[in-house]
Amino acid sequence: MTNLPQTMKAVLQTGDGYSGTATGPAIADASDYLESATIPVPVPGKGQVLVRLRVASVNPSDLHFIKGEYGQPRIKGTPAGFEGCGDVVACGDGADALMGQRVAFVAGGPGASGAWAEYALTDASMCIPLRPDVSDEDGSAQIVNPLTAMAMIDIAEKAGGAVVISAATSQLGKLMISLAKDKGIPSIAMVRRSDAVAPLKALGADEVLVTTDTDVVEQFAAVSRTLKPIVFLDAVSDQLSEQIFVHMPNGARWVSYGKLVPDLPKLTQMGQLIFMSKRIEGFWLTRWMMTTPREDQARVVGEVQARFADGRWKTDIAARLPLNDVVSGLADALKKTDGKVIITP
Ligand SMILES: NC(=O)c1ccc[n+]([C@@H]2O[C@H](COP(=O)([O-])OP(=O)(O)OC[C@H]3O[C@@H](n4cnc5c(N)ncnc54)[C@H](OP(=O)(O)O)[C@@H]3O)[C@@H](O)[C@H]2O)c1
Repeated sequence: MTNLPQTMKAVLQTGDGYSGTATGPAIADASDYLESATIPVPVPGKGQVLVRLRVASVNPSDLHFIKGEYGQPRIKGTPAGFEGCGDVVACGDGADALMGQRVAFVAGGPGASGAWAEYALTDASMCIPLRPDVSDEDGSAQIVNPLTAMAMIDIAEKAGGAVVISAATSQLGKLMISLAKDKGIPSIAMVRRSDAVAPLKALGADEVLVTTDTDVVEQFAAVSRTLKPIVFLDAVSDQLSEQIFVHMPNGARWVSYGKLVPDLPKLTQMGQLIFMSKRIEGFWLTRWMMTTPREDQARVVGEVQARFADGRWKTDIAARLPLNDVVSGLADALKKTDGKVIITP
């Protein structure tokens, strides 16, 4: 840890553990959950690396997390932020191979220190060395959404038939639409803004339905009779989602992977699970990473980087925030929904 400062700027979580609420990834004021501070630069332990931040991204999972509503507990006083891109500047035992490399990372593992800080601490296994032709901004959103897109479109490809994608204007939705097109999988995109229809069709969606249309369920039923979608990749998971699932054919799978709205759906057609072999399930990238063989993950990571390097995929940026402005500016920055908020040191 020579030539490194003793302290760093960081955005810390002020809550601890779980909150017991389920209010969704929206915040009115980041100071309800975060504070700026200067804290000691963390020291990597065995198998860990210290990453000097270039760019961090803000994902819905970060917002669920700082609110105490994610799949793991908060640790009060620890920097927030899961995902980013930076340079490995110190390594614990067994992690030397990454020294000096520019990596995409997710801050994870015991004792990790989050990405919304000048330095992040994570397990070496949570870092992916970046090709030089992948930009820092694309590098900062290289893991969570792209790997999820690859894994979930793989589910659709194996199931055969068309796929339904909700919240399709999200970064992940757009990645999945273009990937589905490249793989020849017809896609039905669901959006809540009519101005998103043309751009998503241009990206490759076969049908784009607007959820605020009063007859959207009837529109979907007609499209479903033609395209016969088998997999519904759903980030909204509300009552409309349930109605979409109800109008899918025999054997359809409703894969809930996000909860962008807090309302809970009511199941109205339990018989379809029995008589039509329909299934409701979840997807979480963390579980995919724990259960997918390393060599398969490496192949997927290589394909992800190739797609960003040659321009088939890109990260749309809605706003850039310096670390110093995260607490005061995050809630406003998140109002621009057509792209990611990114954070720079
Ligand atoms: N399970 C997993 O492992 C996993 C992994 C990665 C991501 N995710 C989930 O995937 C989802 C998308 O993530 P992201 O990073 O791609 O999001 P993002 O780019 O940050 O954007 C969120 C998008 O959601 C849209 N949206 C919000 N509420 C909506 C609603 N009720 N109906 C339709 N659209 C709505 C917004 O659309 P407008 O443009 O209309 O405002 C916005 O474009 C999130 O729920 C996230 O938690 C899950």
